[in-house]
Amino acid sequence: MRLFTSVRDVTSVKTLVQEALALKSNPYAFQELGKNKTLGVIFLNPSLRTRLSTQKAAANLGMSVMVMNIDKEGWALETRDGVVMDGTTVEHIREAARVFGQYCDILAIRAFPGLKNRDEDYNEEIFNKFIEFSGVPVVSLESATLHPLQSFADLITIEEHKKTQKPKVVLTWAPHVKPLPQSVPNAFAEWMCKAQQEGLLDFVITHPEGYELAGKFTEGATIIHNQDEAIKGADFIYPKNWSGYHDYGKILHNGEGWMLDLERLKITNGAKVLHCLPVRRDLELGSDILDSDSSLVIEEAGNRVWAAQTVLKRMLEEL
Ligand code: CP
Repeated sequence: MRLFTSVRDVTSVKTLVQEALALKSNPYAFQELGKNKTLGVIFLNPSLRTRLSTQKAAANLGMSVMVMNIDKEGWALETRDGVVMDGTTVEHIREAARVFGQYCDILAIRAFPGLKNRDEDYNEEIFNKFIEFSGVPVVSLESATLHPLQSFADLITIEEHKKTQKPKVVLTWAPHVKPLPQSVPNAFAEWMCKAQQEGLLDFVITHPEGYELAGKFTEGATIIHNQDEAIKGADFIYPKNWSGYHDYGKILHNGEGWMLDLERLKITNGAKVLHCLPVRRDLELGSDILDSDSSLVIEEAGNRVWAAQTVLKRMLEEL
């Protein structure tokens, strides 16, 4: 594996999850694989889980890790081509990416969208330039449009906790006070659609009208605008806010009636609730759920280690 930016970089999610669970039961079995290898971890945005789980995963594989908050610690980065750099930017991404490639065997990058210009965000300019110029394998730690390590960890968690052969998994839009990126729901949708294709689960998405995600990520999902109808009989529910894709980056609904609490779970099949975190309590998701056995958010965060370790292991094996 030289690239991990989407579920499209994975042949079988079922096999990938099995590999992750094997690593979870024996975390230090491949310490020699990463010996004398360096992972560069580059953040343009904040992080708790992604930063720590990726560092832990690399350490479990015997790798050295260098972390850089490039937005704060590096030179102001120019990402556009063909511009005279007579403004505030100091270093072009073409040189910066090549330099990272000199020091690192694998690069992992986080770069959120601006949510102003959909074409710019969905072109994934920063990621594509790091992939083009660094010359080393690249892992997404969340791009403008996708968060694949999160979705991989979500699927590991579902596989560990499922009580039926083919659970019903529901992604539901949730309220928020700020317009948020589509990266988590896009990635969750494409991973669940792939898992559905492989016979692992049935996948439903529910959101208010107007919050449709890009069709290329939801192919095969059942989409229902009535949340009660969608969550009825659900085994797993993933509440998550996102801003408009068609009406790009906009808040289109005040959220009334869309926040889940324990009462709302009564029509489910004892659903377990997932969330990528961070979550705004009693705005996006009821604190009664988060403080109950219905919540799997901490286990899910723990599984970020095994998702990252599986991807890094596959990349190390092909260096
Ligand atoms: N879920 C997630 O990616 O968390 P962080 O933003 O804290 O890394």
